[in-house]
Amino acid sequence: MQYQNFSLIYLLKLSTVEKIVLTEKFSKITVHWHPYIVGELNDNFIKVAKVKDDFVWHKHEREEELFMVQKGTLFIDFRNKTVEVKQGEILTVPKGVEHRPRTNGEEVLLLLIEPKKTKHTGDLVTERTVERLEWI
Ligand code: NI
Repeated sequence: MQYQNFSLIYLLKLSTVEKIVLTEKFSKITVHWHPYIVGELNDNFIKVAKVKDDFVWHKHEREEELFMVQKGTLFIDFRNKTVEVKQGEILTVPKGVEHRPRTNGEEVLLLLIEPKKTKHTGDLVTERTVERLEWI
């Protein structure tokens, strides 16, 4: 390997390259249904959340949503069916489709990828809506 011919831009970009250790991030979370930002990808945030019991019914008019289960089993209710998403599985929710994520009483660890402007409660603003997302 040779390092001496790399450009300054390459080296500057390289200085931002850092892996995300999900177990470390999850260990800092103490609140359920509160997403935290752990990374960025194009115009999306990579987020993590710990969830338990029922969330609210909502939809995202203009954005698709990705749920990847890191631990436990997430249930996503739609108006006519429920999808069970287990550890290591991913579900994407189409834009404009009402859904309600929930768990069966257990704590579930999630990784989410969403456009930066997405609100996790979609078009619904409740006391559970987190207006300003924080990085952890
Ligand atoms: Ni949603």
